[in-house]
Amino acid sequence: MIYPIVIYGHPVLRQVSEDIDKDYPDLANIIENLFDTMYKSDGVGLAAPQAGLSIRIFVIDGSPLAEDEPSLAGFKKIFINAHITEKSGDKISMEEGCLSIPDIREEVKRENYIRLEYYDENWQFHDEVFEGYTARIIQHEYDHLDGILFTDKVSPLRKKLLQGKLKGISKGHFDADYKTILAGKKIKNT
Ligand code: CO
Repeated sequence: MIYPIVIYGHPVLRQVSEDIDKDYPDLANIIENLFDTMYKSDGVGLAAPQAGLSIRIFVIDGSPLAEDEPSLAGFKKIFINAHITEKSGDKISMEEGCLSIPDIREEVKRENYIRLEYYDENWQFHDEVFEGYTARIIQHEYDHLDGILFTDKVSPLRKKLLQGKLKGISKGHFDADYKTILAGKKIKNT
């Protein structure tokens, strides 16, 4: 199934997501649904809280960006119970967007290297280092698990300028060609 995407202002986007057990109900389906939802909305990453699920899972498929970023060719992964253990390197500024915050793109500074522990869909444990564009996408999706949005990370001036627009988005003033859920609406995904 395709999940409606939870929009800025909904409290589930501000919760800290929980680790899950191997026998979490319907896990294989949830992963499939997250990918289907991400592809349907032309995203390159999607975190479970954006589908209203407060669990530590996100999926990434960077292939659509591979023409400009060769490092993303074939970068399709599922991250379960992800925890960043190190961040390092220069902070690099790059424009980001988010399916939960339509119509806004802003420069965000992030570290160039991360070390991440996670489980994959076969419940294999990984302790891996990522750099560059992959590290950026992972950090964006990972932040969702901790209730952090990219607009939290822009400069204080930009944040001030964005206030009104974000308020409008939370009330449904945006264009998105995918299904969405606004704050105050019930999420029925199970
Ligand atoms: Co996002």
